[in-house]
Amino acid sequence: MSYNNLLTNIEDGILFVTINRPSKLNALNMELLQEVGQIFANDVPNPEVIGVIMTGSGEKAFAAGADISEFAKFSVEEGTKLSADGHAIMRSVELCPKPVVAAVNGFALGGGCELAMACHMIIASENAKFGQPEVNLGVIPGYGGTQRLVQRIGRSKGIELLMTGDLISAEQAGRLGLANYVVPADELIEKSKWLIRRIAKKSPRAVGEIVKAVDALYTDGQDGFKAEIDAFGRCFGTDEFLEGTTAFMEKRKPSFR
Ligand code: COA
Repeated sequence: MSYNNLLTNIEDGILFVTINRPSKLNALNMELLQEVGQIFANDVPNPEVIGVIMTGSGEKAFAAGADISEFAKFSVEEGTKLSADGHAIMRSVELCPKPVVAAVNGFALGGGCELAMACHMIIASENAKFGQPEVNLGVIPGYGGTQRLVQRIGRSKGIELLMTGDLISAEQAGRLGLANYVVPADELIEKSKWLIRRIAKKSPRAVGEIVKAVDALYTDGQDGFKAEIDAFGRCFGTDEFLEGTTAFMEKRKPSFR
């Protein structure tokens, strides 16, 4: 399928999703976000796809935020709906049973930072900059930033970044645990592929169960330990468990795909 604001291609089983509005620093308009939702609903389940790398077109930005020109005149009701719709899309990224890596190649601000944080892992190029500058606009993050930033880097530093709107460097993001790895710009995609390929050698069912069990820690009303017990038990009913344990016993590498 083709999209108006995103480029997609599959390379060695990795689905590349490139945010493609470089003249607007890849600002996320509503149509673009809906397209992200469509990709996770329709393209990612393709059995050929082993994982997703999300990145931005051009050298300046992953995404410099939600498209301010689109919501500047919104009412309370429209603002609430914008946020609720954005949340649903971020959730579809976060709950993807296949690994999703944000390859952040420049500004990841506001909604861009929130989209990167909805991905399972972040790899940042050395020139990346992260931040939630919404306070400068008289608003707060609306696509999960108040929650996911604090989940990822802790309350003290998280609330500081949210309240000040300060941007942080890739190096700081790496130190705070927001970015899993920081690499030179020309190694960004290769490092992202490396991570997906390593995970692709593991049991896909187990990887999907890890997404659910980890998510339970952050989901209201769920007991993460109970979620782990259930997920662990489910693994025992899979061919992949049989293959993994048999391969160990036979002193060979498992073959899950
Ligand atoms: N929404 C809409 N348009 C945006 C945008 C956003 N979040 N971020 C950048 N753009 C547009 C600019 O309006 C400009 O468009 P124009 O050329 O038609 O005027 C273009 O992208 C280039 O941006 P510009 O500001 O000229 O680049 P810069 O290098 O001088 O500054 C930033 C880069 C990221 C510091 C600056 O663009 C910025 O502050 N963006 C908004 C960040 C933000 O508040 N994000 C949270 C939104 S909720």
